[in-house]
Amino acid sequence: MSQIVFDRQVAVVTGAGGGLGKTYALELARRGARVVVNDLGGSVDGSGGASSMADATVADILAAGGEAVASYESVATPEGGAAVIETALDTFGTVDVVVNNAGILRDKSFANMDMDSVHAVMDVHLNGAFHVSQPAFRVMKENGYGRFVFTASASGIFGNFGQTNYGAAKMGLVGLMNVVAVEGAKYNIRSNAIAPVARTRMTEDLLGPMIDYVDPEQVTPLVAYLASAGCAESHEIWTVGGGRYARIFVGVNDGWFAGRGEVPTAEDIRDHLSEIRDIGEFIIPMSSTEELQILGRLLEADGT
Ligand code: NAI
Repeated sequence: MSQIVFDRQVAVVTGAGGGLGKTYALELARRGARVVVNDLGGSVDGSGGASSMADATVADILAAGGEAVASYESVATPEGGAAVIETALDTFGTVDVVVNNAGILRDKSFANMDMDSVHAVMDVHLNGAFHVSQPAFRVMKENGYGRFVFTASASGIFGNFGQTNYGAAKMGLVGLMNVVAVEGAKYNIRSNAIAPVARTRMTEDLLGPMIDYVDPEQVTPLVAYLASAGCAESHEIWTVGGGRYARIFVGVNDGWFAGRGEVPTAEDIRDHLSEIRDIGEFIIPMSSTEELQILGRLLEADGT
């Protein structure tokens, strides 16, 4: 099989000054991409900022013979996100790949959560992905080509104590990924989400005994594949960490059908819970219309 190369394609990686993002930027550059290395350079909770983190990644790429430019903007504002893509356009003339990776943590139990921590986390993860991806999407639509990788998390998809803000933002990113995939399909724009696990400054106190076995570099190959021209998959969620690569999916069963025009009682619902909740058979719809088609089929079958 052929090598995966980026051949001077332009890739934007947010939060590429350290952790996972840095590995993505280095790998995409090593495979020939011209990379916009975006990083605010703050701390894990999003406070502060410095150019040194993005500069260090750019220096590593240049030292290895690659091409890269630094961007110190915060993705948390619409202006910041737009400026990240402007950097790509001004420096390299286009944008082919966006890896939405920038992130912060403000963990608190739900009872103690404050709205400042909710807004701060939403602004970087979920709104940040909007801010960067929308101007990029417009360029990709014109070009008839694009690849998006969104960074979700098991904390949102499955739940994790103390992370209502983070979990909601991360699951929101799955929704954003889904719709970008639907809208981008006819323009050869592919959109996927990953839920990574890796040893970074964000997780070094959280991973316990697994910490030695979850290198960020084990996540990188999946991101490089999803960012590549040969990636035919879109609209999918990939879980990745410690050498394991797997699919997370949202499926739906046939459920229980009360009958055409029937309005069941709450007791009917209770009495049919086993059919409603049974996941012996399910499908993975690729749009809300596809899910609605299940009802359409049941209505049709029940028609007289
Ligand atoms: P990290 O803290 O090393 O990397 C995040 C980077 O984003 C930092 O370099 C930071 O300066 C940058 N950043 C933060 N706010 C920014 C802003 N407003 N604008 C631009 N850059 C900003 O942490 P890590 O682990 O590499 O995280 C990368 C992504 O992976 C995050 O979205 C995180 O939520 C996600 N993730 C990581 C997991 C892990 O096990 N490491 C687990 C699940 C998700």
